[in-house]
This record gives sequence, structure tokens and C-alpha cells, in this order.
Amino acid sequence: MASMFRDGLLKGKRILVTGGGTGLGKEMAEDYLRLGAEVYICGRRKQVLDDTAKELMDKHGGSVKTHSVDIRVAQAVDEMVEEIWAEGPLTGLVNNAAGNFISPTKDLSSRGFDAIAGIVFHGSFYVTHAIGTRWIRDKVPGSVISILTTWIWNGGPFTVPSAMSKAGVNIMTKSLAAEWGPYGIRLNAIAPGPFPTEGAWARLSPGQSTDGEGSREGIPMGRVGQMSELQNLATFLMADGCEYLTGQTIAIDGGGFSAGGGNFSRLSKLSDEEWDKMREMIRGANDKDKAKRSV
Ligand code: HXC
Repeated sequence: MASMFRDGLLKGKRILVTGGGTGLGKEMAEDYLRLGAEVYICGRRKQVLDDTAKELMDKHGGSVKTHSVDIRVAQAVDEMVEEIWAEGPLTGLVNNAAGNFISPTKDLSSRGFDAIAGIVFHGSFYVTHAIGTRWIRDKVPGSVISILTTWIWNGGPFTVPSAMSKAGVNIMTKSLAAEWGPYGIRLNAIAPGPFPTEGAWARLSPGQSTDGEGSREGIPMGRVGQMSELQNLATFLMADGCEYLTGQTIAIDGGGFSAGGGNFSRLSKLSDEEWDKMREMIRGANDKDKAKRSV
């Protein structure tokens, strides 16, 4: 699908996308680069980030820089942002990094909860705070986009740590839009419906292919999202010309939320044995990622 935007729209912008090595983060990073922004991506797996940076620069030219960081560690986040600032201030941040897996809440351990909340709830705050305080100090404006989900409005059965954490980031968006508006800092959020990616699908729809076949049910538009549609919204919110737009969370879900909520309540039908199988499949995906982190 064609881009809605003119070439060079984001020239002069410097944007950090957390979790930008894969999935939705990579897609948004690519569109920002294509439209002329200098892009930074961070994540836990250096090789994955470097491969993505090379792929995107080979395709579009420009600059994609990588930082290996676990956003659960506040000091590591601050050091990364300090290094980026040494090259000049950022103009935008996308809080995209996330962790999630489906699980009956009765079977979750406290460490399982903390693994998700550490990334989504704490990590999103650490990055926003490290960057926002520098924008305020340097008296420069900035724009933050956080990637949420429609479950922040109706609850996330079987994804409670993620739903709780993303609901927290939603209220951070609204709170800081008011608190930091006087500094010219805008915060908005996007709540995507199904945009199938490998990482999310391995943990949220194990065993289903990412072609979206299994995700159409309950979506009035009758299909999953196209990456260009998400990219267009993420670019619109980051571009000059919508300075008056702040504190908003925009769903992009083909009407799924309006039609029935779009969450995982259908999983109530699974037996304990089926859950055991799901857990095995999710663990397999996690183990593969860990192997990549250790190289
Ligand atoms: C129950 C599980 C589990 C599962 C892990 N745990 N997987 N519990 N069911 N399927 C538990 C472990 O048993 C352990 O607790 C604890 O979680 C920590 O597990 P680790 O593997 O040691 O954690 P870590 O290596 O930090 O991995 C973090 C992770 C992993 C979140 C668990 O999945 C990850 O790194 N994910 C990043 C990528 C990702 O999730 N992408 C999808 C995001 S999709 P115990 O007590 O046993 O020690 C997304 C979509 C939002 O966010 C909505 C879109 C619409």
C-alpha cells in the first residue's frame, strides 16, 4: 500500500525506537528512516539490532544506530540516552519494546509477572523519563508514542501482566501530556489490533501462522492490519504539523474493539492439557531468543 507522506517529511528528526530490531518496532523504524529521520534502535540482542540496521540502511541509505540495552535496568537506560545525547538531542521516542505471553493468571509466578511488568511498565517509564528530563533541561520539544493495546480499556484475560502494565503506560501518556505540555513535549499512544509478527505470535498465538488467517474472527474489516497502516499512523504522530495533538490513545484495529473487545477471553475454553502444550511452544520461542542474546 502506498505511503501517504512526501519524501523527506521527517528530515531533521532523530528518533529512538525501543525494541526496534524486530516486529512492529522494526517496521516503524524503517518508515522513519525512509522518510529522512536519523534512527536509533535498542533492544537486548546486539546481533539482531545490527542485522536490522544494516538491512534498513542497505535499502534506504541514511543512518540507523544500535544500542544493546535491557530497558528493565534504569541505569543502563540512562547511560544509553547519555551516549545518544552526546551526538545531539533526540526529537522523538517510540516506546515499543514489550514482553508478553498468554497464561492463565492462576499459573503465573511472581517472576513471570515481574518479567513483563519490568519491560512494559518500568522500562517504558525509565526511557520516557531519561529522554523527557533532557528535553526539559535543554529546552527542546519532543514527541513520545507508546505502543499499547485495546485491552487497556476492557481488560486482558490471560495477559494480565501486560494489560496492567500497558494500562499504566496509558495513564502515563495522559498524565505527562498535561505535566510536560508546557515544555512542548507531546505524548500519544497507539493501540494496535492484530498486526501479526513472529515474536508476538510465538507468545500470543502459539502454533498459528503469522499470515493472520486465525486472527480475522471478530474483526469487522475481516482482515488483520497491514504494516503500512500502522507506519502511517506512527509517522503522522511524529511529524511536524500535529503539535496540538497530545494525550491521546488511538486504536487501529479494524473495529475489533468496538465489535467485541478483541482480547483473549476465548481462551477460557482451553483445558489444562492444552495449556501445557501452549506453554511448551512459548518456552521454545523464548529459548530461541535467549540463545540469540548469548551470542
Ligand atoms: C508461564 C512463563 C512463561 C509462560 C515465561 N514464564 N514464559 N510462565 N507461562 N509461557 C515465566 C518463567 O517461568 C519465569 O518464572 C519468568 O516468566 C521469567 O522467565 P524468563 O524466561 O527467565 O524471563 P526473560 O528471559 O526475562 O524473558 C522475558 C519474557 C520473554 C517476557 C518471558 O517472553 C521475552 O523476552 N519476551 C520479549 C519478546 C516478546 O514477548 N514479544 C511479544 C510481545 S507481544 P519462574 O518463576 O519460572 O522463574 C506484546 C503484544 C501486546 O506485547 C499486545 C498487542 C496487541
